[in-house]
Amino acid sequence: QELELKLEMLEKGGYDHFMLKEIYEQPRSIRDCLRGRIYPEQGVVQLGGIKEYVEKIKNVDRIIIVACGTSWHAGLVGEYLIEEYARVPVEVEYASEFRYRNPIITSKDLVIAISQSGETADTMAAIELAKEKGATIFGICNVVGASIPRITHAGVYTHAGPEIGVASTKAFTAQVSVLTLMAFYIAQQRGTITQSKFVEYLTELDEIPQLVEKALLCNEEVIKIAERFKDSANCLFLGRGSSFPVALEGALKLKEISYIHAEGYPAAEMKHGPIALIDADMPVVFIATKNSQYEKVISNIQEVKARGGHVIAIVSEGDTDVKAMADYTIEIPLTGETFVPLLATIPLQLLSYHIAVMRGCNVDQPRNLAKSVTVE
Ligand code: G6P
Repeated sequence: QELELKLEMLEKGGYDHFMLKEIYEQPRSIRDCLRGRIYPEQGVVQLGGIKEYVEKIKNVDRIIIVACGTSWHAGLVGEYLIEEYARVPVEVEYASEFRYRNPIITSKDLVIAISQSGETADTMAAIELAKEKGATIFGICNVVGASIPRITHAGVYTHAGPEIGVASTKAFTAQVSVLTLMAFYIAQQRGTITQSKFVEYLTELDEIPQLVEKALLCNEEVIKIAERFKDSANCLFLGRGSSFPVALEGALKLKEISYIHAEGYPAAEMKHGPIALIDADMPVVFIATKNSQYEKVISNIQEVKARGGHVIAIVSEGDTDVKAMADYTIEIPLTGETFVPLLATIPLQLLSYHIAVMRGCNVDQPRNLAKSVTVE
């Protein structure tokens, strides 16, 4: 038994939990995911797994993304990116809903199934259904040789390496990285992006692993915040644009491993419900980076402060405006809006991790949850 314990310690690479190890692996896992796929100087994205389908990509009318859980959140980020750059309408569906509601699918559709494990029963059933109706199916999977990569027409592996912690961390950022690559690739094939912009974005994407490394430096600050809010009963996560799915993911992480009730919302929807919950016991986490909707997020922060809520804000390095009004701020490196999800996710993962550890929860194997859900 002692040997087993030692072996486990070794597997965790010196970290207390797999989840923490996997959080810290992200500069490397994102780098692995991009390796051999982006060539900023040449202005090329290479996605060998889907290149046979380039004609399909050029002519596609609609993309449907199907997934469950965290992978579904990655899909939502993908929707923002693909619509923004490739100008193709995207729908993001829970695989479990999609499969049972007689969805409208034709042979013109491209379905992208996202799954860390490649074994999720609902996602597999959604793929089979779309395939029967003649759609082309791409997979974005982490586990090489899993069932989903075998039933899709083509796909892209995330190459994040084995993810042991039940709460998905590095698989999520790898999925978002692949979707970012796909968005740029589809945009280039369809001519919806200029070559100079394309090169500019690839150069920025290439630097993301280093910026993730910098984002991880927030850990000490996050521990202080976790200390302060570890006994909260509820927590709200708010963001706008592609930071809205990041808010959803932040809330999911917290509820999964700390059992604190948490909800993610688009910041502007706060006034249609969640605002009623805000009082002196309610921490509200904002993704308030310096991007197009910065001013709007600031007004949302003021609304929370006016009602006595506690504001924890993820801000861009050097921010002063949000700092002046938030109770706590966590800085992440300044980056273009497109890449904010990859950085803003990091402090949220750490926050849920530390809170869960402080509450004595089993971080790597939370109650009632499974790493891969192969039954309905
Ligand atoms: C389970 C896991 C989640 C995961 C979801 C979808 O609920 O606990 O972390 O996001 O399944 O899994 P998949 O392997 O398809 O990404």
